[in-house]
Amino acid sequence: MAHISRLTLMGLRNLASIELTFENTAPVLITGANGAGKTAILEGIHLLASGRSFRESRLQRLQQWQADQVTLFAEVENRQGSQQLGWQRHKSETQLRLNGENARAQAELAWHLPVQIFSPESHDLLINGPSERRRFCDWGAFYQHPPFLLAWRHYQHALRQRNHALRQGAPDKEVALWHQPLWQAAEQVDAARQDYCTALSATVATFAPQISDSLSDISLSYHRGWKAEEDLLDTWTQQLEHDRQLGYTQAGPHRADLKLRSQGRDALSIFSRGQQKLLALTLMLSQAKLLSESINESPILLLDDLPAELDAAHRQRVLAVLPQLNTQVFLTATDANSLPLNAMSQHWQLNQGRLE
Ligand SMILES: Nc1ncnc2c1ncn2[C@@H]1O[C@H](COP(=O)(O)OP(=O)(O)OP(=O)(O)O)[C@@H](O)[C@H]1O
Ligand SMILES: [Mg+2]
Repeated sequence: MAHISRLTLMGLRNLASIELTFENTAPVLITGANGAGKTAILEGIHLLASGRSFRESRLQRLQQWQADQVTLFAEVENRQGSQQLGWQRHKSETQLRLNGENARAQAELAWHLPVQIFSPESHDLLINGPSERRRFCDWGAFYQHPPFLLAWRHYQHALRQRNHALRQGAPDKEVALWHQPLWQAAEQVDAARQDYCTALSATVATFAPQISDSLSDISLSYHRGWKAEEDLLDTWTQQLEHDRQLGYTQAGPHRADLKLRSQGRDALSIFSRGQQKLLALTLMLSQAKLLSESINESPILLLDDLPAELDAAHRQRVLAVLPQLNTQVFLTATDANSLPLNAMSQHWQLNQGRLE
């Protein structure tokens, strides 16, 4: 199981320089008033792992107003031993460090620090377009099938080139030059996703009823982005003229989606907002369960303000399944009593960006 043993956050939001050490993997509870900086701590962990915030697209906004850089550091124990991860952003330049050396890509850090976040924004997974769901599926495929990332990059590269050729009005022959490399990468991306989603769908089916009775018949299926019965190479050739008019490639793994159904209907159309949130959380916890079983590495879970998102009974059920997941969990709440954790948990109180 991956877990953070030491965490340093500097120049982030309203947080004073924070240094935390975790002697064991017991749940970490962070409490404090509204605006104390609880979410900012989770944001820091997520940023170090993924290079992104889960609530803000402009990284500049995360940097403390008076600070001239953001510096994040963590010591992580994972399946490959002890790792030191560093992330620094200074004047819109990001520098990544891994075990004392420069890292070339954020994926190197992500590989060592698998992190899943549940926050009010997680609801977007269900209500927004398919890109969030593809990202969700690709996150798991990346850990389960390491070659996935390279295939995905090759696919993105070939796709950009084909779309560029379409928009430039290049002759058919020139556009079609990209079909073979695009297809090779597409096959690998699709196979890895298919594999991962099949396993995830089985985990969701057994795990969801433990979280909520209303999720007892939820099903998840993967749709690959082109018609099941069609050959993708033929589709690109046949659609070339139409693609040219639109200026982009219509069919392929970049149009994949995950569909969620309950009682024979699209889950979104019949679930209340609270149930949708439960479903988003269940999907995330299922990913954690699956990875802990399949690659023996469970992601670190960041659960932001669970009491604001779930009723007391569902909160209780979520807390009860966490130990099964064999994962380090960070939770935030305004009131510690709203999250009855066991005596093993570690509790930090935040007051205006300072830990007490
Ligand atoms: N770039 C920044 N520099 C300094 N302070 C900031 C910056 N961005 C946001 N803040 C402040 O940092 C605080 C951190 O907010 P955060 O969302 O982490 O609080 P929270 O404890 O999660 O609150 P809530 O309980 O309302 O969710 C807010 O008071 C916000 O005004
Ligand atoms: Mg918050």
